[in-house]
Amino acid sequence: MSSIFQILATKASGTSIPKLDVEIIPVFQNSAKKIHWPKGTMPEALKAAVDRNTFTGAAKELEWVQRSNGKGALYVGLGSPKGLTGDAYAFNEWIDQVRQSGAMVYLWQKRTRLAVSATQVKDWESSSHGSPVIDRVIRAFLEGMALTAYEFDRYKSKAPKKPILSMKLHLVGNLAHWAPVVKDLHDVTEAITVTREWSNEPSNIGTPEFFAKSAVVFAKKFGLRAKVLTEADAKREKMGLFLGVGQGSDRDNRLVVLEYLPKSKRKGKTVALVGKGVTFDSGGISIKPAGGMEHMKHDMTGAATMFGAILLASRRKVKNHIVAVLAFAENMPSGSAIQPGNILQSRSGKTVEIINTDAEGRLVLADAIDYVHKWKPDVIVDAATLTGACGIALGKQCSALISNDDEVSNQLQKIAFENWERLWRLPAFPEYLDDMKSTVADLKNANDSRMAGTITAAMFLKEFVKKGVPWAHLDIAYTAYDMAQVPYYPKSGASGANVRTLAQFAGEFGSG
Ligand code: BES
Ligand code: ZN
Ligand code: ZN
Repeated sequence: MSSIFQILATKASGTSIPKLDVEIIPVFQNSAKKIHWPKGTMPEALKAAVDRNTFTGAAKELEWVQRSNGKGALYVGLGSPKGLTGDAYAFNEWIDQVRQSGAMVYLWQKRTRLAVSATQVKDWESSSHGSPVIDRVIRAFLEGMALTAYEFDRYKSKAPKKPILSMKLHLVGNLAHWAPVVKDLHDVTEAITVTREWSNEPSNIGTPEFFAKSAVVFAKKFGLRAKVLTEADAKREKMGLFLGVGQGSDRDNRLVVLEYLPKSKRKGKTVALVGKGVTFDSGGISIKPAGGMEHMKHDMTGAATMFGAILLASRRKVKNHIVAVLAFAENMPSGSAIQPGNILQSRSGKTVEIINTDAEGRLVLADAIDYVHKWKPDVIVDAATLTGACGIALGKQCSALISNDDEVSNQLQKIAFENWERLWRLPAFPEYLDDMKSTVADLKNANDSRMAGTITAAMFLKEFVKKGVPWAHLDIAYTAYDMAQVPYYPKSGASGANVRTLAQFAGEFGSG
């Protein structure tokens, strides 16, 4: 699980520049989309590529110029900067092009097996965009490289033929300035790797018990408080919905509570993170069709994402107090499974008629959301691979956001766009709840029509958020895995998306 890729901040003095295979040289475009060449004459070989029009400096373009013994310069196009004068959307969009360019460099190095690279900060500065912008640009580029360096190959019995044992990038510049950035990038990579590993784990190994044990191990390493509730504990807590979902499975539920306590007490807010941890979603008695059912091992990615977020926030030693509740259960059909028509009682006391046993995520989350009020949170955020309807509404380009609070919603969305893990808000008009009212119980777990499925699921959750508590729900069903269209996500399997946004939100909520 340790990354084969390492970024090092290296002091900018002649002798400390490492022996390198690849020197990475950034190339920007001007506003007319022509190469912006800031200093001296362009090297012959690059000029030839420019004349041939094979290298234009557009984002994600690469041009390799060999020098001697296999070593040389890799020119990487970063496009023309956008949004420098205040258009935040355009700026964030361009920054993501830089992140994607970093991904292309990593993939190129992996292919060519040139394992050691370096880039000089002054090459980036000479593009004259000003220092705060350059900081964002370099960070995004390195982040793109780091995020790409992941593969889920633990279960391949044969290792790839000529494995690259390690890959290093030296960022040559002001050590004091860049060392903390590099450290944070390692923390980001570490957290996202944990999220991806959890999400990719097949459900024969990745059972509720497995994730609970794994969480406790990580909690120790990261200095988090951890508590695991068994089914007996959940019974005492009257979590009838949570238990109902796991009832048909031979594998017992687990509810994991993790707590990050800041050193400086009483300054920050309490942020609650709740994650759907359905380790396999067969649909239960309302069984899913066979095609693609293997993807339902990822149905615990909400929990994996919140786990990554609290790990990262704790590494950053943020001021807020963070509580994460990860609700693990397996949804299976069997003689003991819940059935359509059953009525279950939630921890909050509200009763729920089961219409469709495949609408299990909201059941698991409802009791977890109710439970987390114990910590008197200033905000509750939940994340879940909750509805197929989310893909119909928004595709893979963003995740859905539904909230009862404009301020929380705006802050989340702003952070999400900065990280290019875009969130799009859908309405929570009270009339949507009408579809979730049962004639025989307080609520039903699915509406009869298939209309507004992402919203009606959120409206169900909202019924378990106490009055006056700001809450936001993220439906990550279509961004959690198989995000091949983005080069810094794996070609298939867990993406690790939304960890950066949620960690940043957990750290920054209530400040600024
Ligand atoms: N885990 C699924 C949602 C899902 C679908 C995630 C596709 C990722 C990809 C969820 O538990 C589910 O089955 N939801 C149902 C709800 C319906 C029965 C009201 C759905 O979306 O079809
Ligand atoms: Zn389901
Ligand atoms: Zn599910």
